Amino acid sequence: MSNHTLRVGLIGAGGIGRTHLASYDRVREAQIVAVVDINEQIARNAARQVGAQAFDSVEQMLNEIELDAVDICTPPAAHLEAALPAIERGLHVLCEKPLAHHPDAAREIVSAAEKKGVKLMTAFCHRFHPPVMALKRLIDAGELGEVVMFRNRFAGPFTGVEERWFSDKEVAGGGVLMDTSVHSVDLFRFLVGEVSRVQAVIRQTSPAIGEVEDTAIALLSTEDGRMGVVEASWVLVAGFNVVEVYGTEGAAMVHYWDGFKSRYKTNRMEDWQPLEEVGPDRFVGELQHFVDACLGRAPLQVTGFDGLRAVEVVYEAYRAAQG
Ligand SMILES: NC(=O)c1ccc[n+]([C@@H]2O[C@H](COP(=O)([O-])OP(=O)(O)OC[C@H]3O[C@@H](n4cnc5c(N)ncnc54)[C@H](O)[C@@H]3O)[C@@H](O)[C@H]2O)c1
Repeated sequence: MSNHTLRVGLIGAGGIGRTHLASYDRVREAQIVAVVDINEQIARNAARQVGAQAFDSVEQMLNEIELDAVDICTPPAAHLEAALPAIERGLHVLCEKPLAHHPDAAREIVSAAEKKGVKLMTAFCHRFHPPVMALKRLIDAGELGEVVMFRNRFAGPFTGVEERWFSDKEVAGGGVLMDTSVHSVDLFRFLVGEVSRVQAVIRQTSPAIGEVEDTAIALLSTEDGRMGVVEASWVLVAGFNVVEVYGTEGAAMVHYWDGFKSRYKTNRMEDWQPLEEVGPDRFVGELQHFVDACLGRAPLQVTGFDGLRAVEVVYEAYRAAQG
């Protein structure tokens, strides 16, 4: 292994953990050398796939293997207990969204990383989705004028959610807003600006889901009155999954999973043009960015603070929804 290979321990090898695992194959200068999962069989299978060592506890991995970083892919309420000992040992941390199930836990992770001086990145993969990156470049170049309005719908049936931790408030910290709209809040902050006001309506459509919301709308606004609508549902028919921005000089929309092309148009253009879709997929892009930042090759662009803000905004939405 060269000096320039980041040794990463993957914590949690479920759905997204396996996506990360497969994506590291296309990431330069990083290697998964250990996999932890409380389910030993899952840990063993995942570790075998990449020639890593398997563990069933974070402590054991940290005691036995030399690492540079960890990649946390456990359910939200387990992020803090994985992040703190890793940070304590000076390891960099990539942590899946939401950074934690509660703002206090998210704050604890952020402040531990700051104290120790390690990199902490929240895995907001949508920032690395090639058309979103193209859109960000257009906005930064002023092509859309002042971006005043934003809309993001991430919605579609999540079959079996009532039997998964996603609908367990203790583990997830909330329902569809915590699961999905943390991404939307981050996209609003990335493309439009910091959230200063939150309004929300939440609803439970399927009684099987228990105590959390399965459908929601949040209205976000900035200090200077730029505005965004965030729509989320686990139970309604999918329809469009889209990020739209509208400015004084142009508009753009990024489509996901709905068959439509991502496109933009400015006042100077005759017709809609496709948004560039070049570069690696969002997971490879996200992991590569983390690795580059840990190796000192790029400043970290998505931080623990971004993860904390998204959780805070979702909690503000819950407070607002209660009236
Ligand atoms: N960025 C995305 O697009 C995206 C997509 C899906 C999930 N996620 C996030 O990733 C995280 C994991 O979600 P998932 O869908 O992979 O869940 P999952 O239930 O499929 O997998 C979680 C894994 O973690 C293991 N685990 C649970 N507690 C643990 C602990 N204390 N120590 C070690 N392992 C433990 C479980 O055994 C399981 O294998 C969540 O925070 C979720 O919100 C992000």
